[in-house]
Amino acid sequence: MARGHPGIVTALRDRYLDVVASIYIYNEHRGYTSLDRVLEAARRHCPQDTAFIAAITSHRADERKHYLMFRRWFERQGRMPLGVDRSFGHIDRFIGFAFGRGIDDLDVDTVVADVSAFEKLCRVIVLTEQRGLVQVEQLLRSRTILSDPVMTRIFRVIHRDEPSHFLPYRDWLVRRGRPAETRAERLADWCIHKVLLLVKLPALFLNVRTARLGQWPDAGEAAG
Ligand SMILES: [Fe+2]
Ligand SMILES: [Fe+2]
Repeated sequence: MARGHPGIVTALRDRYLDVVASIYIYNEHRGYTSLDRVLEAARRHCPQDTAFIAAITSHRADERKHYLMFRRWFERQGRMPLGVDRSFGHIDRFIGFAFGRGIDDLDVDTVVADVSAFEKLCRVIVLTEQRGLVQVEQLLRSRTILSDPVMTRIFRVIHRDEPSHFLPYRDWLVRRGRPAETRAERLADWCIHKVLLLVKLPALFLNVRTARLGQWPDAGEAAG
């Protein structure tokens, strides 16, 4: 970046942080609200497995906590997140690939009745969370991220939490002698990540007309 243009450098940095945080807050919100369905499916599918159900409950609480950290980051900035749609959601795209329908159309009864569907759901979560861990490690090496102490703290918390978000599902699959991933799902995860990173993120960065949200994604939800 050319010297003598601190205003431009600062504006680009702020825009990048704004974009990253907007994509993250969407995904964190989508994460914990989707986990409500996973929790319901697990409680019905394997009610005796209390440790597994407790791990999913804790996972849900962590994603809600991550959401709130980003919400506070925006509140400190005095602005709302940029409005992003489901095409920015890693889990939205992955569920779409794996099940051929959106998260909201994923019927809990079907997932409970079909053990292979529940296993697939677990594999999608394992791959999504492992991807999340790698992504956070990359962000924690970014000088732009490190230039914002609050955002750095947020990503350090996420980094600490992330292993506990995929290990319970992986262990559950391994205990049943089931694969923790398939080649097709691994490839899908990689493609989704590349699309988000190389297409969606830059497009959002450049589209200065993207409107901000009018209300917080959790407006109207019961406090939790
Ligand atoms: Fe998270
Ligand atoms: Fe996570």
